Amino acid sequence: MSVYLGIDIGTSGTKTLAIDEQGRILADADARYPLYHPKPLWSEQDPEDWWKATVRTVRAVVRKAKLKPADVRAIGLSGQMHGSVFLDKNHRVIRPAILWNDQRTAAECDEIEQRAEGRRKLIQMVANPALTGFTAPKILWLRNHEPRHFDQTAKILLPKDDVRRRLTGELATDVSDASGMLLLDVRKRRWSTRLLSKLELDSDLLPDCFESEDVTGQLTPQAAKLLGLTTNCLVVGGAGDCAANGVGTGVVKKGILSTSIGTSGIMFVHSDNVEIDPEGRLHTFCHAVRGKWHMMGVSLTGGGALQWFAQKMCPELKKRAYEVLNREAEAIPAGAEGLFFLPYLAGERTPHADPHARGCFIGLTLKHTRGHLARAIMEGVAFAMRDSLEIIRQLDVPVRQIRVSGGGSKSPLWRQIQADTFGKQAVTINAEEGPAYGVALLAAVGGGSFRNIQEACQATIEVASTTKVQRAARAAYDRAFPVYQQLYRSLQDDFRRISQLP
Ligand code: XUL
Repeated sequence: MSVYLGIDIGTSGTKTLAIDEQGRILADADARYPLYHPKPLWSEQDPEDWWKATVRTVRAVVRKAKLKPADVRAIGLSGQMHGSVFLDKNHRVIRPAILWNDQRTAAECDEIEQRAEGRRKLIQMVANPALTGFTAPKILWLRNHEPRHFDQTAKILLPKDDVRRRLTGELATDVSDASGMLLLDVRKRRWSTRLLSKLELDSDLLPDCFESEDVTGQLTPQAAKLLGLTTNCLVVGGAGDCAANGVGTGVVKKGILSTSIGTSGIMFVHSDNVEIDPEGRLHTFCHAVRGKWHMMGVSLTGGGALQWFAQKMCPELKKRAYEVLNREAEAIPAGAEGLFFLPYLAGERTPHADPHARGCFIGLTLKHTRGHLARAIMEGVAFAMRDSLEIIRQLDVPVRQIRVSGGGSKSPLWRQIQADTFGKQAVTINAEEGPAYGVALLAAVGGGSFRNIQEACQATIEVASTTKVQRAARAAYDRAFPVYQQLYRSLQDDFRRISQLP
């Protein structure tokens, strides 16, 4: 029997699962770890925590599914994108990793545009503009602010690829995750030597880049022993968590769009050709499907907004928080009786690319209750995602079906709000594990159980439920959405002034 593991190094924790050759889930396990905010808008993690969580969850899965070491044929890795792990020449981690939702690099984004001779030329080279969350600005930040650390740096890895280093000893990445470094020629699927030279960065700093289903190495004897596996176990390229979720929800052909409400909120659409938003609001990255691409809009705070509200504002609800907030929000009419929530708790990426944007409740009255606030949060996140959907529609990218996924979409209310806000029925699929499932399928392709990823998705993924659009709610959201959009425009300058206050 051949078993495949998918490991997803997320922001709040790591999830590992095992599947058989038919894609059936045999076991899964999670381990959580902290996120550090040493300064406002900074966001960091300790790569050692990712490794410990990987070891713990793989061992748990092997135990739960009663796997023999030789059963596990291949592993696929997925992870939070854009994070930077800086390694010295002995491959020791130099400082905590700077993450995707860190906003410290506004000045470096300007520097990159200048060095590239303008935003348009930059988009020509790497298909995307410089955004604070991406990796290249973090590298320049290290050079500008921690030159001693920069001088020590011999390699820069993405989060999942640091786990790969510890599994296989290889320094490698895959094209989908590499796209988010802002150093990849996304069209040609290889590092952009042009941009690297304009930024005065040595290409030796970067790992080798593979297609997602290609084998990048095998487990080292130490890793195999620690995990209870063998050195015959292969590790495939894998994918950044967005492309991995695309695969895990079967978005591997034209016309299907997936939404994911995890910490962030993602709108993800497959594309057969390189389509680029000339204004750079949507990202164009390589897909985890060989020779294909995807476009994506990212709201930096998605499910993270409800998590913030539950943990910081309603600590008394403890473990029942989501159940209670969902119940209270469900009793409130669509539109939350005039209450709006802008979910920019960590600044915003798509479409505003504004690290200074802030979260707000607007329209509060004496009538509003905790349930209104919870509902406004869910609606605000859906509106932020609709901003991305509108751009996808403007670019004429076909959307026949919307597949909703991620922790937030487990809530029937949030699924309904998505269907009504997007004006299209929301479909869920049988595989709920998103990124971990997607890279387990990529491992199954690399390990020879399927010919390609389209065949793997076709054999394993099917529609599980459909949430239909409710006409009255849809009309309410269509009326509210332009107001939501105007609120950011009205507040944009104030956000900047607020960010300059001590
Ligand atoms: C994608 C992005 C986030 C992270 C978090 O561009 O920044 O979705 O990958 O998981």
